[in-house]
Amino acid sequence: MRTNNGNRFEFGIFGFDSMLSNGMPYGNQVLIAGSPGCGKTLMAFEIIYRNAIKGNPGLIILFEQKVEDFIDNVKDAFSDQDDIDKLIENKVIKIINIDIMLNFTKADGNDMFLTFKNIVNRIEEEIKSFNPKCVVIDSISLLKFIASNENILVYRKSIFVLITLLHNYNITAFFTIDNSSISREELVFQPEFYIFDGVIMLYAGIESIRREFTLEILKIRGAAHSKTIASYIITARGFSILSNEVA
Ligand SMILES: Nc1ncnc2c1ncn2[C@@H]1O[C@H](COP(=O)(O)OP(=O)(O)OP(=O)(O)O)[C@@H](O)[C@H]1O
Ligand SMILES: [Mg+2]
Repeated sequence: MRTNNGNRFEFGIFGFDSMLSNGMPYGNQVLIAGSPGCGKTLMAFEIIYRNAIKGNPGLIILFEQKVEDFIDNVKDAFSDQDDIDKLIENKVIKIINIDIMLNFTKADGNDMFLTFKNIVNRIEEEIKSFNPKCVVIDSISLLKFIASNENILVYRKSIFVLITLLHNYNITAFFTIDNSSISREELVFQPEFYIFDGVIMLYAGIESIRREFTLEILKIRGAAHSKTIASYIITARGFSILSNEVA
């Protein structure tokens, strides 16, 4: 049975919070990993949206998409939610883009360390001025891609610096990342899975003749969670977890 005492972070996604027996501690840094098109960005947005409705400010940092395109996409996908513009207008949701490639080229072409440092500094400035309760970073895949093999340690260190920073501000944050494996059987454990407090895996497996979306909570530090592989659908109202069990 759920006994959330109000001091725990709630995702607000239909059917998801009951997969955690007592919510999640605030300040957790959570990875939303999955194959292309399985709904990572929309899920991260919905968490921010559900919390914003309750008055908790959310900051969304885009690395790969323009702000206008992002807003068009989420409004199109969640067409029953007609208060998205209002939440943005009222500054309960703030969406910014940080141009990674620009930072990369500005930092003299190859200086990965400076590139990542600039990005982390910019995020800290935004946090200080906007004071969000939750943050989404969509996605860290491009960072990893431009770091390439020879700079992978700089990438890992920078992600660690970033999650420590967010944790110290007691911000609950969600980072999306592409995972090349689309089904559970092919799941490859990434080093990122170890440094984050939580990992939610989204799968787009093939069921007979069509893809079916399922998700799994791999871990959430400080929370008992369901071990079920739960089906989900994305509707105009948001995500709906179709099958789950209480942790
Ligand atoms: N208007 C819509 N109505 C219903 N479902 C939608 C709509 N728009 C998107 N979707 C669903 O959401 C999925 C895309 O969601 P999203 O962009 O969050 O995925 P993603 O995992 O972030 O993808 P990417 O790897 O490209 O970043 C689509 O594959 C589709 O199934
Ligand atoms: Mg995405």
